[in-house]
Amino acid sequence: MDRRDFLRNTCQACAALALIPVAASLEGCASGARMLAVENGVLSVPMDTLGKGSTAVVAGQGLANKLMIVKRADGSYTALELICPHKGGPLKEHGDGLECDWHHSRFDLEGKVLNGPAKSDLKSYPVEADGKMLRVRVG
Ligand code: FES
Repeated sequence: MDRRDFLRNTCQACAALALIPVAASLEGCASGARMLAVENGVLSVPMDTLGKGSTAVVAGQGLANKLMIVKRADGSYTALELICPHKGGPLKEHGDGLECDWHHSRFDLEGKVLNGPAKSDLKSYPVEADGKMLRVRVG
């Protein structure tokens, strides 16, 4: 291997290594959330996003936080903002509700506080079923 081949191979290896963290972080950002368009303040979510379950996490273009779409037992829907109202910690599903990773506030799937330190409920958005789409009014 001459000097030119060595430099070319080394640079290619460095470039490949430099891309790995970016690709991993993008994958991490998208994990569990489907990025959807927001038009005229409405996030359109295909009904099949929920699959056979009663919840789905989605992300909307231009929205600061992910939303959890929740199908209630009566067939209606709500959308909860997945950010803790205490100090902005991330929320994850826990049992029949959501729990904050930071100080463990718990919320039900209507967004109501079950355990503090959070004192306020999660922000929620109205959802209308429209054929095979759910329309979440976010703006
Ligand atoms: S930030 Fe969620 S409980 Fe403190």
